Amino acid sequence: MRDKDALRVAVLGCGSVGSQVVRLLTEQADDLGMRAGARLELAGVAVRRLDAPREVDVPAELLTTDAMGLVTRDDVDLVVEVIGGIEPARSLILAALENGASVVTANKALLAEDGASLFEAADKAGRDLYYEAAVAGAIPIIRPLRESLAGDTVTRVLGIVNGTTNFILDKMDSSGAGFAESLSEAQELGYAEADPTADVEGFDAAAKAAILASLAFHTRVTAADVHREGISDVTAADVRSAADMGAVVKLLAICELRETDEGPAVSARVHPAMIPRSHPLASVREAYNAVFVESEAAGRLMFYGPGAGGAPTASAVLGDLVTVARNLRAGTRGAGESAYAAHPVLPMGETLTRYHVAIDVQDRAGVLALVATTFAEHGVSIQTVRQEGRGADAQLVVVSHRATDAQLAATVAHLEEMDIVREVTSVMRVEGESE
Ligand code: HSE
Repeated sequence: MRDKDALRVAVLGCGSVGSQVVRLLTEQADDLGMRAGARLELAGVAVRRLDAPREVDVPAELLTTDAMGLVTRDDVDLVVEVIGGIEPARSLILAALENGASVVTANKALLAEDGASLFEAADKAGRDLYYEAAVAGAIPIIRPLRESLAGDTVTRVLGIVNGTTNFILDKMDSSGAGFAESLSEAQELGYAEADPTADVEGFDAAAKAAILASLAFHTRVTAADVHREGISDVTAADVRSAADMGAVVKLLAICELRETDEGPAVSARVHPAMIPRSHPLASVREAYNAVFVESEAAGRLMFYGPGAGGAPTASAVLGDLVTVARNLRAGTRGAGESAYAAHPVLPMGETLTRYHVAIDVQDRAGVLALVATTFAEHGVSIQTVRQEGRGADAQLVVVSHRATDAQLAATVAHLEEMDIVREVTSVMRVEGESE
């Protein structure tokens, strides 16, 4: 029999996350009801194929292929969207909000591309749009940025927000293997997809960086604003070079707030970088995620845990579901979008970075001076230089101080043209402690 006080939940998608959401909703119905202040009843589950094998038994009468019909039903109060992708997810979320439902989504790509439309629709409807599961799976990071740190000024967010690439880079670091071999192993173990592009080329991390930067800096940042480089060009030599200087290579999502001559501005980027092994993010191994937050009053905070997987991601979805159910019962809603600061987003060339550059050079008098002069000509200050013999040649490893990315890129292009330079063998940005 239907409980007339229950809140009715429609789940869109029954893949690895959706099936765990349905399982936990069913198995923990009593506890979830007590926490939410109303029983959460499954109203329906929208799927692509009714007869597809799935990890959870869903009563046949609850399954439907008509997702739009489900979200526009009068008896649906809460909608969980775990289909992913832009369409039909966007139309379904907009229709659900317009129909008066609150929405919980894990859809990072959609939020990063067109979060503005979704937040505006939620405002107009007076309903909640929650998305803790969209970034770093089970790790609570959306709520801390949106609520716990709402009284502070966040200056920097450094995240390992893609488990697949962290697994691959960790493998390269621990075994000395190259990228292709480590990717194959990640695929065999089920960490990487058959088409790994979204992960290894940084698209997944860039969407998450856009979401984190928007929240951290109260500014709309979209995926198109995020500078993106993946890890497919990271070589075993890069990883060895990092190890030689006590560092490790990680794919980082980096969001920063910086004072410029024109006032505060933000930047968001995803690229591989060397970080010192003493940095807390260096200890994040295998497919784990972590987000390191720096803020003016709180200082440094780190959030760590499983960033993907059905049950961990479902944990974040259910946390949101309980919260939006409580809000609905209380006739209120949680914090909506905060984009009042509207800071300009800096292009990559104006972002301040540090470079590690390894160069094979002729080993003769004046070569080091010529290399140092090239850095100086581009206004880049050198922090350290290391030289190793290479037969009749030498390898120079230069680590710069911070300069604009444009100055550093110009320095590398200049070095590549110099007669005394045999080859620039490794170029990678350096993040972490020093300036
Ligand atoms: N594919 C992602 C990862 C998880 O490897 O972390 C979903 O965002």
